[in-house]
Amino acid sequence: MRVVECNEYGGPEVLHLAERPIPATTPGTIRIRVHAAAVNPADTKLRQGMFDSVAPLNFPQILGYDVAGIIDDLGPGVTGFSPGARVFAMLDMLQRGAYAEYVLVPAAEIVPIPDALDFATAVAIPTGGLTGVQMIEEYAKPQANDIVLITGATGSVGRFAMYAAHRRGVHIVAAVRENQLDEARALGATETLILGAEGWSGADFKYVIDTVGGRAVADLCRHLRPDGAIFTAATTPIDPQDLTSTPVFVVVHNDPAKLRELSAAVAAGLLPVPIAQSLPLDQAPAAHRLVEQGGNGGKIVLAL
Ligand SMILES: NC(=O)c1ccc[n+]([C@@H]2O[C@H](COP(=O)([O-])OP(=O)(O)OC[C@H]3O[C@@H](n4cnc5c(N)ncnc54)[C@H](OP(=O)(O)O)[C@@H]3O)[C@@H](O)[C@H]2O)c1
Repeated sequence: MRVVECNEYGGPEVLHLAERPIPATTPGTIRIRVHAAAVNPADTKLRQGMFDSVAPLNFPQILGYDVAGIIDDLGPGVTGFSPGARVFAMLDMLQRGAYAEYVLVPAAEIVPIPDALDFATAVAIPTGGLTGVQMIEEYAKPQANDIVLITGATGSVGRFAMYAAHRRGVHIVAAVRENQLDEARALGATETLILGAEGWSGADFKYVIDTVGGRAVADLCRHLRPDGAIFTAATTPIDPQDLTSTPVFVVVHNDPAKLRELSAAVAAGLLPVPIAQSLPLDQAPAAHRLVEQGGNGGKIVLAL
């Protein structure tokens, strides 16, 4: 099978096509013929070596957490699934391996793709969607009318945080770029501000849900209630100096039941998940460059 792997840390050019044997199913696993793999910001940071001390790559490493495709083979003992079914999944955080024509996934982690969703949209859900929803539902747990700042609110993580917060009746202040203001309102923002260009003079935030990090977010975090809390998924840290609460770093975890719920919500049109570009597997370096540049307005996906 064709895969994209890297043998060293470095720039996008370290990603290259390679041939590997198609993996044989093992007890309890399902083999997926991959049709789409998401390119997440974490993939580019892993490739650069940013997480070498906590999550080193196992060279030759096939990157990628999120896959969507068709069930190709069932391992011994697997029931309740049929070859040919359209499915998606989030892969093991330490193994990865989505940039490949075939992957093995434990049957318990496979989620059916709703009929209304194509492979690209389904594959755009797991990492971004679970992170955003978990920041709201498992960490902050805001109540209706709590004032919550969400930064990068139209991004992959941010839009799912918006969805989960909006459903709870939260008073959302979305901090985004100027060209994202309308989209943030459409996603449920009660108020908006341009991150880095506008300050905040309204009532203090109960929670900050951050997907951007850095100085501009630290400035906004000074408007936190004394009983408030700051949750961040961003790799650019928020300097805690002079803040009343130390930012808590959130790490996403897999949750197939929640993926089922989120894919149903996306299929029902409850939140848009835009795809910026689908690129063929051999253009993985170009896909990484796009993610690193930002400004894409949606997910970058590898189509296989
Ligand atoms: N800890 C975890 O478990 C976990 C899980 C998933 C993601 N993450 C991290 O969370 C962050 C967001 O991921 P994502 O997938 O949501 O990325 P994304 O889809 O690129 O979304 C990021 C959003 O933030 C905006 N943004 C970036 N810098 C900004 C700035 N200075 N001012 C205003 N807006 C800014 C981006 O706008 P532009 O596109 O215009 O730049 C984009 O709308 C990344 O650092 C990622 O590595 C962490």
